Amino acid sequence: MTQKSFIRGVGSYLPARVLTNAQLAETVDTSDEWIRERTGITQRYIAAEGQNTSDLGYKAALKALDTAKMSGDDIDLIIVATSTPDLTFPSTATIIQELLGMEHGAAFDVQAVCSGFIYALSLADAMIKSEKASNVLVIGAETFSRILDWNDRSTCVLFGDGAGAMIVSSTPYEDEKAGDGVLSTFIRSDGRHKDLLYVDGGPSSTRTVGKLRMVGNQVFRHAVKELSDSMVQCAAAVDMAIEDIDWFVPHQANQRILEAVAKRLDLRRGQVVSTVAYHANTSAASIPLALDVAISDGRIKRGHTIMLEAFGGGFTWGAALLAY
Ligand code: ACO
Repeated sequence: MTQKSFIRGVGSYLPARVLTNAQLAETVDTSDEWIRERTGITQRYIAAEGQNTSDLGYKAALKALDTAKMSGDDIDLIIVATSTPDLTFPSTATIIQELLGMEHGAAFDVQAVCSGFIYALSLADAMIKSEKASNVLVIGAETFSRILDWNDRSTCVLFGDGAGAMIVSSTPYEDEKAGDGVLSTFIRSDGRHKDLLYVDGGPSSTRTVGKLRMVGNQVFRHAVKELSDSMVQCAAAVDMAIEDIDWFVPHQANQRILEAVAKRLDLRRGQVVSTVAYHANTSAASIPLALDVAISDGRIKRGHTIMLEAFGGGFTWGAALLAY
């Protein structure tokens, strides 16, 4: 019998500092009204000076380990999804491995921008199902505030910092209602669209970190189509219909994207978890952050089915269907 990838625990962490739309409007030519109307965002969290992506990811990992009733000793693989690593190398995953006091196992980063968590989860699932790992710590962690052009109102209002984590394990969570874990994953990319969403720097090209650049309205159009299609394909792979799924936890980019996708797939408003108003777009961290909110407030319970979905730079996109 093939090994299963059970969801043992989920956790998240947000830095202390909140930056509201009104505060942003004091430094850049925008308004609370414009940001709310076009994106649904009201505030975002910003990491403190000296607080790195690994620090956020480590704190989210501790919470996920706690809910899974595990420690770093139990983990044999760490996968961190991030586009804002502490350093060009080593990976943020190995930095978190050290913070957790682990001297065993393996750790690496994946880079698929806002789809990073889906890519990382998909890899974790494959590693467990091929019996190459038993307990995988999957983290999405970002400090996007460090790669924003704070003078560009079309991008700086959209993003925030944060981290989320999930423990995926070959051993089920001890709860008779707990589901079978990862049922299906779907990942895709299309490199032809890199000029629509990118960072204009890098070690090999400019030897700088660079700033985020985006053609927002074009990204919007592609995102709605690919997100909808990837969910349908992910569910169809296990003969499930979209209407059989309890919860949808999308990448949190823009409330209007969430609503357009929900309309396209005929989802009920209450089924779609939305945290974009408070977290803004935290890229690879947004899905586990939103998932942790909906589990912690009691909406998502053991036994529920959950569709995760994301779209980001590359373009990359994908979905993962879970029985929690
Ligand atoms: N405040 C005030 N005005 C602004 C701001 C701002 N912060 N930003 C842009 N504008 C102005 C523009 O200058 C433009 O003015 P003009 O008509 O005088 O030229 C006007 O608003 C309209 O600009 P558009 O870019 O056409 O506005 P749009 O309705 O497309 O909304 C937005 C922009 C919010 C970026 C939207 O396109 C979007 O959300 N796209 C998705 C992009 C995204 O979320 N990317 C994240 C990464 S990918 C992902 O996570 C899915």
